[in-house]
Amino acid sequence: MAVLNQLSSQEAITLENKYGAHNYHPLPVVLNRGEGVFVWDVEGKKYYDFLSAYSAVNQGHCHPKIVDAMVNQAQTLTLTSRAFYNDMLGKFEKFACEYFKFNKLLPMNTGAEAVETALKICRKWAYEVKSIDENEAEIIVCENNFHGRTTTIISFSNDPVARKNFGPYTKGFIKIEYNNLDALEEHLKNNPNVAGFLVEPIQGEAGVYVPDAGYLTKAKALCEKYNVLFIADEVQTGIARTGKLLAVDHENVKPDILILGKAISGGVYPVSAVLANDPIMNVIKPGNHGSTFGGNPVAAAVAMAALEVIEEENLAQNASELGALFRSELNAYIETSGIVNLVRGKGLLNAIVINDDEDSETAWNICMALKENGLLAKPTHGNIIRFAPPLVMTQDELLDCVKIITTTLMQFES
Ligand SMILES: Cc1ncc(COP(=O)(O)O)c(C=O)c1O
Repeated sequence: MAVLNQLSSQEAITLENKYGAHNYHPLPVVLNRGEGVFVWDVEGKKYYDFLSAYSAVNQGHCHPKIVDAMVNQAQTLTLTSRAFYNDMLGKFEKFACEYFKFNKLLPMNTGAEAVETALKICRKWAYEVKSIDENEAEIIVCENNFHGRTTTIISFSNDPVARKNFGPYTKGFIKIEYNNLDALEEHLKNNPNVAGFLVEPIQGEAGVYVPDAGYLTKAKALCEKYNVLFIADEVQTGIARTGKLLAVDHENVKPDILILGKAISGGVYPVSAVLANDPIMNVIKPGNHGSTFGGNPVAAAVAMAALEVIEEENLAQNASELGALFRSELNAYIETSGIVNLVRGKGLLNAIVINDDEDSETAWNICMALKENGLLAKPTHGNIIRFAPPLVMTQDELLDCVKIITTTLMQFES
């Protein structure tokens, strides 16, 4: 069959352009193999992956333990729907509840679905537990958030590209400045209809904005004071990415609702989940919510293996150590650089800010040059480049990557 023939990069790109909706603007590289921290293009060129599928591949590409779990389960039972029980979901729910220390888990597939799930749980809790009048509940979100692409989620985005011409928008959201506790308290104090505060512990997509130390702790305390649910979207920051299992762990904050996705499957299979304790999760009754694929046996097997790998390979610790090394190496370079303003991040979720206009092409051009030099990364917004390699990287590999990055940046110094 012609479609199985090995395509050249150009042929693959041409096919996508012709037959695929143009909803992404990928770097022009066509990958067909991955192992650990490396990926290969169809011409056989090898690259360091410095994006990890937006932090989904924390455990490295094609991790053998996770792939084995998937293959074994796929040969046994793939999908029952939730019309019947299967013998894997309960095991996964118990495993994940003990792992993250919550009473209950609700399984979904993608990050956006998990965010939607959390919003629904929060609203139902508002009416049935907090006794807010029907249809009056509000959820506070932050400016420059990124929580996914559904109609409700883009309703409270302030990215014009994500929003424009997708209205009418879903009501019931209040937007405040990120990292601003006064703004949060102002709304909590004056609005008894607030049910939840949805926040990314680090704003990844916006450009890896790390809030001030103490922000999450104080925000959680305010939420407790005003009986409002603290909802942490850890889809990108979770599962060891920032040097702890969860980014909220840096401040010992326990969210009322935890949203996970991406690396909960090691990037092998779409798995997401919402976790909460009984007084919150018990508002959900049969028929209130669901998904044909959510909680399927393959997802359950894959997620358990992926979470085991995080512990077995000590990936949070590795992310913490390599992240510190990465920022110190980059900071040393930045001291004499005219093209990079700063590096920021936590663990192995980092970004550099390029010294050029937000709408300049420089960050894109740097990523193109990085690609030529054997490392794949992508601008987040305008002049910011996110660096998020798989957490299975070694120190030697990281230093090799630093060399590629700094040599590439030198090409852009004037
Ligand atoms: C913080 C956050 N939440 C939600 C999502 C959406 O996840 P998905 O693309 O799996 O729907 C993302 C994706 O990047 C994310 O970074």
